[in-house]
Amino acid sequence: MIRGVKGTRDILPDEVGAWQRVEAAARRLFALYGYREIRTPIFEDTQLFARGIGAETDIVAKEMYTFQDRDESSLTLRPEATAGIVRSVIENNLMNTDPALRVYAIGPMFRRERPQKGRYRQFHQVDVEAFGVAAPSIDVEVIEMALGYLEACGLRDYELVVNSVGDAACRPAYVETLRAALRANLGKLSADSQRRTETNPLRVLDSKAPEEQELIGTLPRLVDHLCAACREHFAEVRRQMDLLGIQHRIDHRLVRGLDYYTRTTFEVTSGALGAQSSVLGGGRYDGLVKDLGGPDLTGIGFALGMERLVMILRTAAAAPRCDVFLAPLVAAGRDKAQLLQRELRAAGFSVLLDHEGRGLKSQMKRADKLQARFVVLIGEDELAKGLWTVRDMAGSAQESVEDGRIAGYLEEKLNG
Ligand code: HAM
Repeated sequence: MIRGVKGTRDILPDEVGAWQRVEAAARRLFALYGYREIRTPIFEDTQLFARGIGAETDIVAKEMYTFQDRDESSLTLRPEATAGIVRSVIENNLMNTDPALRVYAIGPMFRRERPQKGRYRQFHQVDVEAFGVAAPSIDVEVIEMALGYLEACGLRDYELVVNSVGDAACRPAYVETLRAALRANLGKLSADSQRRTETNPLRVLDSKAPEEQELIGTLPRLVDHLCAACREHFAEVRRQMDLLGIQHRIDHRLVRGLDYYTRTTFEVTSGALGAQSSVLGGGRYDGLVKDLGGPDLTGIGFALGMERLVMILRTAAAAPRCDVFLAPLVAAGRDKAQLLQRELRAAGFSVLLDHEGRGLKSQMKRADKLQARFVVLIGEDELAKGLWTVRDMAGSAQESVEDGRIAGYLEEKLNG
């Protein structure tokens, strides 16, 4: 037997309702904030991600699905959506034609991580990006929409953490200060962190290794090295979050795994998720559009992991499969059932029919499993009288309904 590839999973018909609900909630809510959908390709030029996300990040260095096309160009399955969206914004000049450039995307992403609960190699994100607003109020609006989205999906138990990672004016000096502090303590660092001390010292801050925690607590904090503009921006973001009653915790170690962030970063975690606790993450990326060859356009956004959200929400009962189950009890009833099925579907009811000519008992069992609201029995007696026996599965009462009146009868019962 050929199995699905490690780290991928099927979204089975039983779960797909939950997926459709979170997708519908996204479309509904984001439209209220002026966002429109964008659909970009699943694969892009490898350079886009190397330059956009950062060559030294885990994503680019270790996790990308990169392959050589037949013409030898290097392509990569997108590990995230932001870089592709920024490319599209630049290539299509969207900033010139759209006065409020706000887009969202929903779709699969690919990272070759070690699979575990909540972590897959193909996973799905709901991604949101807003361009061209430098004011801190957009940071707050994006965060508010992210939380509103989680609430709309039914999530209650979560925590918002925020931080500022500075910008090109203040971060380089801080990175050097941090690197010097790390070099002075190399002996206390894991091999991974020793390597990162040289390649990407900020990432040491979000190391989970227990033996490093004490040292990390003593390292210089970025918040103490922000330039005046970044400090003011962060203070204003926090003031406005307080104004709107958005509860949050400041986490000085929240640096995130992508290099494009400037100033505000944020993450929402849920204790219900276990080790992979991050439901969504995002932040501001004021230099990215320019770095990728576009104009000097600010940006901010976030992405939510759909597998993780659906996993926490997976308490809702499976939806019923049909309104009506048609049970022909004799061979002559089957033609009638087929005609009736067409009539009822045309009237807007979901209908399933026993095609196999099973006995009454096994048909009733099947109707029960499908959570049918009504079963229409078509037996010898019914055919002779032109009256169908309609059984209400909720109360198990039954009534005889005249042929021709059945759609009206069901309409009244189901929608009346
Ligand atoms: P990210 O933090 O890499 O950010 O991913 C966002 C979310 O995607 C995570 O919080 C998590 O829920 C989900 N996720 C990431 N990797 C996996 C995985 N292997 N399996 C399952 N779920 C996963 C970004 O991707 C940025 N592009 C977000 C952003 C948009 N920043 C600004 N705009």
